[in-house]
Amino acid sequence: MERLQKYIADCGVASRRKAEELMLKGYVEVNGEKVTELGTKIDPEKDEVTFKGKVLKPEKKKVYIMLNKPEGYVTTARDQFGRPTVMDLIKDVKERVVPVGRLDYDTSGLLLLTNDGDIVYKLTHPKNEIDKVYEAKLFGVPDSNTINLFRRGITIDGKKTSPAKIELLKVDGRFSWCNITIHEGRNRQVRKMCQAARHPVASLRRIAEGEIYLGDLKKGSWRYLTDKEIRYLKEL
Ligand code: URA
Repeated sequence: MERLQKYIADCGVASRRKAEELMLKGYVEVNGEKVTELGTKIDPEKDEVTFKGKVLKPEKKKVYIMLNKPEGYVTTARDQFGRPTVMDLIKDVKERVVPVGRLDYDTSGLLLLTNDGDIVYKLTHPKNEIDKVYEAKLFGVPDSNTINLFRRGITIDGKKTSPAKIELLKVDGRFSWCNITIHEGRNRQVRKMCQAARHPVASLRRIAEGEIYLGDLKKGSWRYLTDKEIRYLKEL
């Protein structure tokens, strides 16, 4: 059960306070009867609410979420092997959001989730060429040949990738840390490119998608996108 003025507000008619005024003016009917009592509760599933004779339906609120996905989670809603899914980490989100694209089971980092189909389409459609930046821990240290190889594209699964960028950040013993930027979303693309370049991935983390950055969000935590981030996505 839900307060009538909240329901009217959720339908996008007016703020809750304004909705109370509209009720008092006699514009609101529930199941064909005028309701002016402000404490009235309704069952959104069963009751029909009208405003000036028009049936009201709740607006579907659009939500935009960033999750820092830990390793050991799948990005599908259900897994055939019963492994944990990213949905387990966003249980307190009421809206039915879906992941925007995928991250491998063993990859961590930035994963966007939303119920806004337009944004899913914009971010995942290859023609939009949205840059995705991954921080990779690699075996060995890529030299200038490797950097050029990434720039030219690397053949994986029989098909050459689009030009990619690899930037060496630091070296420690047998390992190096690099930022790798791609805009395609082929299956295990970064891992396969690095493997083909003879610098297999030890660990992989996505840190940016377009101008949306993971920042210092803790692993396993999520947050709503800021208005600025949402504006950026809508303007893509
Ligand atoms: N490339 C990969 O290899 N894995 C990911 O999860 C994303 C990009």
